Amino acid sequence: MGNYEDKGHLPTFSQMDTGPNSPAWLNQAVFYQIYPQSFYDANGDGIGDIPGIIQKLDYLQWLGINAVWINPCFVSPFQDGGYDVADFYRVAPRYGTNRDLYRLCREAHRHGIRVCLDLVAGHTSTDHPWFKASCLSSRNKYSDRYIWTSSTISGADIPLSFIRGYSERDGSYVANFFYFQPALNYGFAKPAADQPWQQSVDAAGPLQTRKELIKTMDFWLSHGVDGFRVDMAFSLVKLDPGHKETIKLWQDIGQKVRALYPDIVLIAEWGNPEESIAAGFDIDFVLPFGVGGYTDLMLNEKSFFRRHGGGNIRDFLKLYLEQAAKVKGKGLISVPSANHDVKRPCADERTVRDLKVIFTFLLTWPGVPFIYYGDEIGMRYIPGLASKEGGYARTGSRTPMQWGDGPNAGFSTAGEDQLYLPLDPRRNRPTVKNQASDPRSLLNHVRKLIALRRRSPALQAVSALIPLQVENNDRHFAYLRQSASERFLIVLNPSAEPSLVRINGIKPDNLVPQICHGAQACVEGDDIQVELAGISYGIFKL
Ligand code: NOJ
Ligand code: CA
Repeated sequence: MGNYEDKGHLPTFSQMDTGPNSPAWLNQAVFYQIYPQSFYDANGDGIGDIPGIIQKLDYLQWLGINAVWINPCFVSPFQDGGYDVADFYRVAPRYGTNRDLYRLCREAHRHGIRVCLDLVAGHTSTDHPWFKASCLSSRNKYSDRYIWTSSTISGADIPLSFIRGYSERDGSYVANFFYFQPALNYGFAKPAADQPWQQSVDAAGPLQTRKELIKTMDFWLSHGVDGFRVDMAFSLVKLDPGHKETIKLWQDIGQKVRALYPDIVLIAEWGNPEESIAAGFDIDFVLPFGVGGYTDLMLNEKSFFRRHGGGNIRDFLKLYLEQAAKVKGKGLISVPSANHDVKRPCADERTVRDLKVIFTFLLTWPGVPFIYYGDEIGMRYIPGLASKEGGYARTGSRTPMQWGDGPNAGFSTAGEDQLYLPLDPRRNRPTVKNQASDPRSLLNHVRKLIALRRRSPALQAVSALIPLQVENNDRHFAYLRQSASERFLIVLNPSAEPSLVRINGIKPDNLVPQICHGAQACVEGDDIQVELAGISYGIFKL
């Protein structure tokens, strides 16, 4: 176990400072997130599938990607895009078979790409056979797999969402997200003495749930999967101040699983790196919730990456640096381009030019970059779509990938009305095909940035970040990335206003432009002077 002999071949790396248990390959990782239903439809039924992902591995390799995270692809009634799992051990027929997924792992490895699945650890669908058994009034093996109060009629006065009147069993169940996502029972941090239905984390039911989770992980890892992004990883133990018991639980799970598969990655959807990295995860995200920071950077009207909002980098940077200091040497933080839950960067008034500034940041920033499918070509968030599979406002970020200029943008050969979601209707919508052949496209910009990152130790996950003082104008941002052997200066101006900035106190020997647009730098004594056009970026090797 732990090698890839019959699972394709991957490069090996020596241990770096990615975290005490983290695989060294993370230092150079560039992730790509695939929403499988919208990526590529290989059998023409209108829904993306696993054979479709296999067919696009050449593309991902060309782009420079070396790891993917695939949103849940398991049997599900799809009331929440597959985050409502009805069988953790079986690929949803609409995506293919288990064999297709095993083959994806082998083929991906041959392309130098690792494969991570989405582990929905906190809940199942109400359709799951465990839950159906749990709903019965007669006691059975699954009675304690979920959290049930002891009476349907009398309410429970605690801050959890209770669903009443669903079952013949007398009791209400706790829902984790939507009502049809009953929370699995990992116990309560401090069960109330007078509420015997609140079980402790080491009671028989919660321990059995934990065992089953480990079994699921082992199952997929044994078939060649390289790790998991864990959905709502913070949510397992209930009423758990500071997530102390949830942290202990993940430490235990991580230890057991890593003993068998030392090279895997565990990525948390937690939004609080201090906690998630302590829990043994390798990576956590900057998200709109938890500690936050993502909104200040990307999403709100005053976010830094808005031309006219007047925003600055300060709010994001403060949160980021605090967290980064807390997890230094222990784990990594990722700033994703977007994900299936948030607006794509191509929204509102942003154009390719703005997106190039954003990607220059994302791919020169420490931690592990995550590119959400389609963001590399500037696919647009489509407002106003009817909700699909529990997407609601998120639906606009989940439309089919735009590959070429054929029907359905090359996503599927199905009729337009069969598609999982409608395509961006604009005539000039971006496609991989158009952009691949245009050297000035966003796609080629992203590809160049990935290549530069992968060949430059200073730009990789663990190398130092040194934010710089840019003379009294915080619409700009400049920082150094540096390793033992090299140093880069990155300057970003996402605002529409041009300006001249002086960066104090760096005496560079050299100032070699790498990937630049509208940014011209020269050395002036001990300082660097940069002329920045509106919406510009520059990466310089010092
Ligand atoms: C977070 C996932 O990213 C989201 O899409 C889902 O709806 C919830 N967790 C519930 O699983
Ligand atoms: Ca299909």
